[in-house]
Amino acid sequence: MKVITIPEEVFRTLDLQSYYDDIGLVPTMGFLHEGHLSLVRRCRKENSICVVSIFVNPIQFGQGEDLGSYPRDMNRDLELLEKEKVDFVFAPEPSAMYSPQFSTFVEETDLSTGMCGSSRPGHFRGVCTVVLKLLNIIRPSRAYFGEKDYQQLQVIRRMTDDLNLPLEIVGCPIVREEDGLAMSSRNMYLSPDERKSALLLNRALSRARDLFEKGERSGTVLERTVRDILNSDRKVDCEYVCVKDAASLKDISRINREAVIAIAARVGKARLIDNIRIQP
Ligand code: PAJ
Repeated sequence: MKVITIPEEVFRTLDLQSYYDDIGLVPTMGFLHEGHLSLVRRCRKENSICVVSIFVNPIQFGQGEDLGSYPRDMNRDLELLEKEKVDFVFAPEPSAMYSPQFSTFVEETDLSTGMCGSSRPGHFRGVCTVVLKLLNIIRPSRAYFGEKDYQQLQVIRRMTDDLNLPLEIVGCPIVREEDGLAMSSRNMYLSPDERKSALLLNRALSRARDLFEKGERSGTVLERTVRDILNSDRKVDCEYVCVKDAASLKDISRINREAVIAIAARVGKARLIDNIRIQP
């Protein structure tokens, strides 16, 4: 496994790429867990070259967010990736990605507007910009993203279509802890008590799924059910609960096509997100 820290070195090394028909990329911000590793395993299986990027992208964090305290452990990450037989890790410093005169950004303006886009202005602009840069540097034929960040996955799919990017975006299922908590690098902010409260996110979504399976088709009722469960615990500060068309991310009042129920909530210092999809 080779660790590369500057784009120019990727160009030199992966220039070899003319020899390989398929390069897969898994973009991450590091502090890897089984959720990330599920993407890496899929990428490893489906491509002859498997590249993982580790980069805590400053421009996708807003003022007052956790850029400074975002968990990092490069040595542990590299050990994990070595075990997964990753070929290349691209781990640049911010200065290698953003020169002082950096002034070009990519903005998706439809799917990015609601949900996390409302509470984190500029977030998806930062995500699209860094993802496009990573795709240009690595030039993969496939890139892997988790459904845990459902809106992010849809935004990246749209950017890929809109800008005619020549690759396949592969969405991968959410990996959860045994008790149902969606894995996240940010779970490490949770105290044992807060971690218990955080379980309510998945419980609330499961309850909505039960109702849906028993025939409930009203988006409003499902949303209220989730919200009431989250509000039953004072440690859970709900940012949004929404039921959206799974493709357009527009509000959906009757579930007569695939929908996503998504949550963002703060528990202690952690901002957590989770979602499920339901299909009539
Ligand atoms: P990060 O939060 O590190 O996540 C990297 C990838 O892992 C994302 O595609 C995310 O959806 C996926 N992932 C995280 N937790 C998961 C889980 N429990 N199950 C399945 N997949 C999971 O998302 C980012 O980084 C950044 O925004 C990035 C795309 C790298 C751009 O900076």
